Amino acid sequence: MTALQIAKTVFLTLFVLAVGAAIGAAVMLWGGLYNVAATTQHTQQVYSVLELAMRQSVRLRSRNIEVPPLDDERLLVRGAACYRDKCVQCHGAPGVAQGDIGKSMQPLPGPLVDARQRWSANELYWVTRHGIKMSGMPAWEFRLAEEDLWSVVAFLQKLPDLTPAQYRSLSAPGWASTSGSAGTQSIPTPPACGPAGASAAASASAAASASAPAAGERRQDAAVDVRRGEKAMYQYACNACHTIPGITGSNPHVGPPLAGIGRRTLIAGRLANTPDNMVRWLMHTQEVDPLTAMPEMGLTERDARDIAAFLATLD
Ligand code: HEC
Ligand code: HEC
Repeated sequence: MTALQIAKTVFLTLFVLAVGAAIGAAVMLWGGLYNVAATTQHTQQVYSVLELAMRQSVRLRSRNIEVPPLDDERLLVRGAACYRDKCVQCHGAPGVAQGDIGKSMQPLPGPLVDARQRWSANELYWVTRHGIKMSGMPAWEFRLAEEDLWSVVAFLQKLPDLTPAQYRSLSAPGWASTSGSAGTQSIPTPPACGPAGASAAASASAAASASAPAAGERRQDAAVDVRRGEKAMYQYACNACHTIPGITGSNPHVGPPLAGIGRRTLIAGRLANTPDNMVRWLMHTQEVDPLTAMPEMGLTERDARDIAAFLATLD
């Protein structure tokens, strides 16, 4: 055979294989042959490929994150409260089983006692902040303040050393006694853990600023971030009900489409379409219109301002 004939044979073989694979994939996909039930596992090969893709993706994206000092006892106590509020239902804790949701997920969320051996602190921070797409691991960026994300990482560093009793003491509302480098000390444990500025006082001041537009406008000039607002749309599930230009979704029509919302004169037919009123609508939806079908989505003021800034660009 000449070199040309060999090249031809190789090319034809590859072509036939590629066409065969494409037909196979199409039959699999359109024929509904891949079983998506969470009661069956991925095959070991699929599982290993997905694990590898996840690990490498986290490594790449977390490599430039600088880790702050994490050996502060207060941070640990805060982290225990955040872990109790946000992670236990899926991952369990020393002496605490996962809830039903965690137990029945596929892939199964692990107990995280070995997390510090498999992930460095910057990787744990990245996973906690951004979540893992298509695995059910949620992103916590919009639910935990920046220092709380690190407090969870500090807690994960300590987790393998904790007995069930120590975990109970650290995470119980009230006081935790810790014994660290500074000796034994009592530290108040937070009753709940959530995003920055989500306290009752903060929402009261948000309500006040909504009725005092001048102050609201000044604050808005200070720090609105349109791109962050766009990202927040997914994190507050706005795309579950609204079809929104530029936002990936299933084209739902539970709420009105938001195309052109920046140009409209009224919000929900009730409020003049100003940035402050948009923030008010998003944060205090039911107060503006007690009969509306749109639920209050629990936005912080910062997130509402960023989302309002993004919505204003839709014209
Ligand atoms: C709704 C359930 C759920 C909640 C709540 C949840 N996770 Fe996860 N988590 C998962 C799933 C599912 C995975 C993926 C497991 C896999 O791919 O092996 C995961 C993976 C992880 C991983 C990588 C684990 C590993 O073993 O390699 C870390 C770290 C993690 N989660 C931390 C957290 C932290 C911290 C919180 C709380 C702030 C949290 N998770 C809350 C479901 C959850
Ligand atoms: C559970 C479904 C649901 C979710 C989730 C939801 N909305 Fe809505 N939304 C609605 C419905 C229904 C209306 C119509 C309300 C009315 O007119 O009383 C609406 C109205 C609106 C309006 C006024 C539209 C107009 O035409 O005047 C805006 C703006 C809006 N939503 C933004 C958002 C944003 C931003 C989010 C995420 C933070 C969100 N919505 C989440 C259901 C939802």
